[in-house]
Amino acid sequence: MEQGANGSDGERSAGWYSDICDLHPDGLLVADDQGLIVYVNARAAQIVGTPASELLGQDIRKAIPLQESDGRSWWDYTDPWNGLAIRSGHREKLLIIPGLHEVLVTAKYLRPGRGMPVRQVVVALRDAEARRRAEANNSALISTVAHELRSPLTSVKGFSSTLLRRWDRFTDDQKRLMLQTIESDADRVTRLITELLDISRIDAGRLQVRKQPVDVRAAINRHIERFVASGYERERFALNGHQEALPEVWADPDRLDQILANLMENAVRHGEGTVSLTVVPAGQDGDEAVAVTISDEGEGIPPENYPMIFTRFWHRSRRGGTGLGLYVVRGLVEAHGGKVSVGRAAAGGAEFRFTLPAGAPENVI
Ligand SMILES: Nc1ncnc2c1ncn2[C@@H]1O[C@H](COP(=O)(O)OP(=O)(O)OP(=O)(O)O)[C@@H](O)[C@H]1O
Ligand SMILES: [Mg+2]
Repeated sequence: MEQGANGSDGERSAGWYSDICDLHPDGLLVADDQGLIVYVNARAAQIVGTPASELLGQDIRKAIPLQESDGRSWWDYTDPWNGLAIRSGHREKLLIIPGLHEVLVTAKYLRPGRGMPVRQVVVALRDAEARRRAEANNSALISTVAHELRSPLTSVKGFSSTLLRRWDRFTDDQKRLMLQTIESDADRVTRLITELLDISRIDAGRLQVRKQPVDVRAAINRHIERFVASGYERERFALNGHQEALPEVWADPDRLDQILANLMENAVRHGEGTVSLTVVPAGQDGDEAVAVTISDEGEGIPPENYPMIFTRFWHRSRRGGTGLGLYVVRGLVEAHGGKVSVGRAAAGGAEFRFTLPAGAPENVI
């Protein structure tokens, strides 16, 4: 490997090393004792935006003028060839290639012996765009959350201040209406916070599922009653497939409630017509006990949106919503060992189907 990196180690092995280095996901460059580029892998040429053939033989300090965020030249500051003779390199640092973008740079100095002049400088470049995108994603998350929390809190604050200051000027009915608004906005904030906590658990793989035998049909019926109690007509819901005997299902009853609440609420909020629910044995798949489908008669979801639908914050504008519900549903179903999918209902609307696993998990005594 001594000379392999600079391509003078005989035809075959130089090609072999360079093929391997071309597969490396990071950019790699090697400069000689004069600072001239003697090796460039494919990724480095791609990051720098210059063909490898043009980079070879150039002074690395000019070809890749790395800058600190304050505009200082990184090469002037580090000066691998004339700097401290005991330095062996530089840890990863975020630098800028002027006119291009940010890169994470690591440098390694190869010296023939301790305290001797640098013979080769190996520079690794990692595209910082992916990290930047992740950060942008995080700040998008923060601003969405702040925005979602602000509107209900503004209303809670507005109505409660008005009530406190002008209590005597309102009729009982008006007061009741304001208090109901405060209550439902407070519920919205609580729900959003619960969803966000679940999301952080799902993302960190720390979602706890306490499985026990559950009666899925009874759970669905409870939800239907809840919708009816909050003002929906009973005819809006139909639970089908009563006749079929179901295998025993083990699930976390609270999590199952969350899954059902999200999917049923979507069906009434984003869909139209009757919300049909079915619970049937899941079929051949050995580990899965039952499949639950929830469909409506609304306009459904365009198939080109299927891949996006379970991602967080995805929603189609019209009827409000944060776009977190289905992301949480998928996390909860998968934490149970089940699967969730979306399709088109026979009646034209959206159809969501999720499965739950059969039998007691092995670790339950
Ligand atoms: N049954 C449905 N019919 C039509 N569109 C649907 C249906 N269910 C979900 N969608 C679409 O998928 C989007 C994402 O749903 P999701 O439950 O993740 O978020 P949301 O309902 O908008 O907000 P949240 O559930 O966080 O309050 C919805 O905004 C809606 O556009
Ligand atoms: Mg929803």
